[in-house]
Amino acid sequence: MTLVPGSTSEFQWGVATAAFQIEGATGEDGRGASVWDTFCREPGRIRDGHTADVACDHYHRWPEDLDLIAGLGARAYRFSIAWPRVQPDGSGPVNAKGLDFYDRLVDGLAERDLNATATLFHWDLPQPLEDAGGWLNRDTAARFAEYAAIVAERLADRVALWITLNEPMVVMAYGYAFGVYAPGRTLMLGALPVAHHQLLGHGLAVEALRGAGARSVGIANHYTPGRAASDRPEDAAATEAFDNLLNWQFTDPILRGGYPDLGVDLPHVHDGDLAVVSAPIDVLGVNYYNPVGVAAPAEGDELPFTMTDVPGAPPVTGMGWPVVPAALHRLLTTLKSRYGDALPPIQITESGCSYDEALDDRPRIDYLSAHVDAVRAAMNDGVDVRGYYVWSLLDNFEWAEGYHPRFGLVHVDYATQRRTPRASYAWYRDLIAASGPDGRPRRR
Ligand code: FCB
Repeated sequence: MTLVPGSTSEFQWGVATAAFQIEGATGEDGRGASVWDTFCREPGRIRDGHTADVACDHYHRWPEDLDLIAGLGARAYRFSIAWPRVQPDGSGPVNAKGLDFYDRLVDGLAERDLNATATLFHWDLPQPLEDAGGWLNRDTAARFAEYAAIVAERLADRVALWITLNEPMVVMAYGYAFGVYAPGRTLMLGALPVAHHQLLGHGLAVEALRGAGARSVGIANHYTPGRAASDRPEDAAATEAFDNLLNWQFTDPILRGGYPDLGVDLPHVHDGDLAVVSAPIDVLGVNYYNPVGVAAPAEGDELPFTMTDVPGAPPVTGMGWPVVPAALHRLLTTLKSRYGDALPPIQITESGCSYDEALDDRPRIDYLSAHVDAVRAAMNDGVDVRGYYVWSLLDNFEWAEGYHPRFGLVHVDYATQRRTPRASYAWYRDLIAASGPDGRPRRR
């Protein structure tokens, strides 16, 4: 049955989640292993040895979770598809039961008049692909495009927006350079091919998705704006190097068709690659949490910068992440000035914060409200923003931090799987109700 999804012309108020962080059921219905399943089993990788084997049990409880999203009056739900459920080996045979799960999910969204924003890769690379080199291996880009085509052939009639990759920067930096996320490699600048092969995979997937009838395609990039620790010229130079490596490296090739100055040669970039990477996209997804202070590296450091506290000692969230809504405003206006007419409409594909378990979560309301205001200020300055997704609907498995952080509008009791909406859930519902079709407050 093909159901017609909700309107995409309205501002896309939504919530975001990711498969590995909520689904659980990691051994069910033919799902293969991902790099994160492997990583969770390595001693010392995840705080208190938590695993995502059960997580929020969303694989079984998804109707209740979609009801919670509908209860917000949201327009859209950003979820991710687990590659190892669809293609357990990362290539070759399709696991029908895995694809069926997402088929039911998108029908469930349409039944509730919610738009499906489907992310194809939110870090759970099939382990057999990692065994063959993972994103260091150029071939993974082609495998990703094949997988994208398989999923789109089944779901493109009901998915409003496709997000190819979630935060390729984090995969490169935390996964392959610093080794704190799966697959746990510590290659430092040796991880640069991981950026390019993901971007190449993105470009190939854009083509595959369009070929399978996708209506709208984008990428969700993570932006951590660098703030120079002082006005010393060395700190300014380090901040520029930081922004090029961590921020612009993942947007310039797509919107400008070339890499920023990364200070090193890029022999893994082949002739013709950048034409693939820079295929037009319909939406730039912006994930923003916080800025970071940047200072000149110490003598002998491998990286051209060192990360430090944000100047001005702003308050921090439960993760210790500085709360600086003005940096989101500045990021959005910078994207507009940097890319000009090449910048497609933006959707804020993740924005949120972790605090303690409390149901009366005033600090989260304050955080979200200030960040929505920052987005509106950027819209008033002429930045074309068309959506905002809170990270996250539910408390969930926060990667190396396990279940300790609490990012949800809805509290999860992991012993019983009981969901309880927090005060921020009611606040968000009221904000959406009070907003017009363009996302701005309704006129009285
Ligand atoms: C982002 C990730 C998301 C979640 C939030 C807190 O970097 O995309 O999965 O962990 O951080």
